[in-house]
Amino acid sequence: MITTRLTSDYGLKTPLANAGMAFVAGPELAAAVTNAGGLGVLGAGILSPEDLRGAIQKTRLLTSGLIGVDVLAPMMSAEHYGVLIEEKVPVVVFFWGLPDKQEIAMLRRAGARLWAQVGSLAEAAAAVEVGMEALIVQGSEAGGHNRSEAAVFTLLPAIRGLYPEIPILAAGGIVDDKSFAAVLLLGADGAWCGTRFLASEEADASMEYQAAVVHASPGSTVIATCFGPEWPDQPSRVLKNRAVIESLSGQVRDVPHGTSIGTTRIGSITYDMPKFSATLPTRGATGDPEEMCLTMGESAGRIHSIQPAAEIVAAMTSGASEILSKLTNNSQAV
Ligand SMILES: Cc1cc2nc3c(=O)[nH]c(=O)nc-3n(C[C@H](O)[C@H](O)[C@H](O)COP(=O)(O)O)c2cc1C
Repeated sequence: MITTRLTSDYGLKTPLANAGMAFVAGPELAAAVTNAGGLGVLGAGILSPEDLRGAIQKTRLLTSGLIGVDVLAPMMSAEHYGVLIEEKVPVVVFFWGLPDKQEIAMLRRAGARLWAQVGSLAEAAAAVEVGMEALIVQGSEAGGHNRSEAAVFTLLPAIRGLYPEIPILAAGGIVDDKSFAAVLLLGADGAWCGTRFLASEEADASMEYQAAVVHASPGSTVIATCFGPEWPDQPSRVLKNRAVIESLSGQVRDVPHGTSIGTTRIGSITYDMPKFSATLPTRGATGDPEEMCLTMGESAGRIHSIQPAAEIVAAMTSGASEILSKLTNNSQAV
């Protein structure tokens, strides 16, 4: 049992959340994490408002516990805000930007608690300034979009020191009991894990994508901006597959405009991925994974199997709890 202000403020059994990963964190994953005692978070990503509503409703059929929705601020429309408000989503997490005052007021009136994922001291200050109730500190080792200015071991204590009163979750490199215990020792109130749950049975990711996580080594990823005709020039930590290596070496083959590298699913839509598409391969995606954006953290190098999300939550929690109590007992003995 691990008790922090996150567990007591939000009624969680463990201070562990799955990252609200676009494409990957759907109803099955979010519900499984909530049912295991953590905070399950849906990734809104680039879902349409209707598909976002469907995902929230489906999650609620799978769990009666607390859930969150993670949104990419630049992708939000008035209709998306309307869905979050009408569905009374209790925790809304912002990434890659912040809502404005009016949006904050509307969400609060609907009962939402608002969190922000930040990657720098400046982003943390901006989030605190607008009244975000918890911060997720993303380190440079993290998977997904990433403009962090430092790794978790440096950034987390720095932000913790500046804002002792705010609940903080650490994001980046947390895959097991030891890394979970480590970020709690560094001052986090909880952990926000992406890549570990990308390699879970409930993740909406293609088998090839999950296999790539399991086969990755510590040096297999890099932060690159090559993906994204849909959303150009956004840095993401990705697997160094053929497309990335070609792009880094300036040897991109000329591909006729409109050529598809495969298909993936965006909610209810089957999407033809153009060369360097920033979309991720969901279950049943077609095409060559060597051509796709396979975002994952450095932590992929420490993940060796696909597991049920509940097992991941249980093993991380019981192991970290044991480590922390051993450390406490040892320090009392000194
Ligand atoms: C596949 C994938 C998709 C992601 N999509 C999002 C997203 O839509 N919104 C978001 O806030 N963070 C997203 N992230 C970043 C996570 O929130 C988090 O910072 C990261 O996963 C933590 O590092 P880790 O992957 O080592 O656990 C994504 C991460 C991954 C691996």
